[in-house]
Order: sequence, then C-alpha cells, then structure tokens
Amino acid sequence: MEIKDVDSRDLKKIVNLEQKIFKENAFSEDLMERLIEKNFFFLKLEINKLKKHIIGFIIVIKEKDRKDNVNIVNFLIDSKFQNRGYGSYLLQHVIEKIKNLKIIKKIILNVQLSNTIAITLYEKFNFKRNPLIVENYYHSGKDAYLMELNIYS
Ligand SMILES: CC(C)(COP(=O)(O)OP(=O)(O)OC[C@H]1O[C@@H](n2cnc3c(N)ncnc32)[C@H](O)[C@@H]1OP(=O)(O)O)[C@@H](O)C(=O)NCCC(=O)NCCS
Repeated sequence: MEIKDVDSRDLKKIVNLEQKIFKENAFSEDLMERLIEKNFFFLKLEINKLKKHIIGFIIVIKEKDRKDNVNIVNFLIDSKFQNRGYGSYLLQHVIEKIKNLKIIKKIILNVQLSNTIAITLYEKFNFKRNPLIVENYYHSGKDAYLMELNIYS
C-alpha cells in the first residue's frame, strides 16, 4: 500500500471513482483536472495487486482568504475497500504532512449532515463540528456541517 501524489495520468481513474462514490455530487472532470494542476495536496492511496490500483484519494487546497487554513475538499475510499482502516490511514497521513509543514493553523472541511461514518471518522481525529449548518452546500441541495481541526490545540 502506498500514498503518492496524483498526476494528470490518473485523471480518468480519479473521475470514475469520484462519480461512482459521489454520484450527483461528484466533482466534474474539468474541476478534477484543475485540482490536479493546482492543489495543496492531492494524494492517492494505491494497493499493489497484479497492477497498481487506486482505492482512494484526498484533495486539500489552501483557503483563499486565510492562507494559514487548508480545506479538505474531497476524500473517498472505493466502496469495496471501505471500513478496513484505509480512510483513517490516508487522513492520518495527510494531517501529519500538514502538521509537519508548521505553517498551517487549521484544517477545515464540509460533510453532509447524514454522513455519520465520515463525521465519526473526523471526530476520531479531533475535528470539531461547528454548530452552524451550511445550507444548500451540495449540488443535490443537501446541507453540510463545517468541521475544523486546530493544529496547535
Ligand atoms: C468516509 C470514508 C472516506 C471513510 O473511509 P473508510 O476506509 O471506510 O474508513 P475506516 O475504515 O478508516 O473507518 C474510519 C472510521 O469511520 C467510522 N465508521 C466506520 N463505519 C462506521 C459506521 N457504520 N458507523 C459509524 N461510524 C463508522 C469509525 O469511526 C471508523 O473508525 P474505527 O474503525 O476506528 O472506529 C469512506 O467511508 C468513504 O469514502 N465514504 C464515501 C465518501 C465520503 O463520504 N467521503 C467523505 C466526504 S466528507
């Protein structure tokens, strides 16, 4: 199992996985292409079967108005591989990378209100849920929580 930077050769695989998991809320191919070009971290988790196989990825970008904040804008593990610790492994890895840079104060993300699994996972890593609900956050019209991890607390 390896964590590596995503590059443009991964675009099709990333887009397929994104559509499979997020359906109507999936990021478009265009957006993924731009995120591969410009990101803070765009990491893939690969397993080595007969061939290398991407089983998940995480995208982190810098906040526009707060340069010491980063935002996890996308994060998934392929359905077949969920609930086996891969999500925790990838999230832990990215949190460590961000902490080691020593320039980022806060990691933020949005999560759908009904996504108990992801919320529990983020809470396991000490993300705190902001009580304010972000209405209409997703394409589907669903609302989101904002969750935040203060690096220095
Ligand atoms: C969220 C996601 C990335 C987690 O990845 P994963 O590989 O399944 O996660 P893990 O196996 O490491 O499990 C992580 C934690 O999730 C929580 N969890 C798992 N299954 C759960 C369940 N049925 N109910 C509640 N919490 C659950 C637990 O806290 C678990 O940690 P623990 O096993 O130490 O208790 C994955 O489920 C996924 O891709 N979901 C669809 C896309 C998505 O929702 N992405 C997040 C968008 S904000």
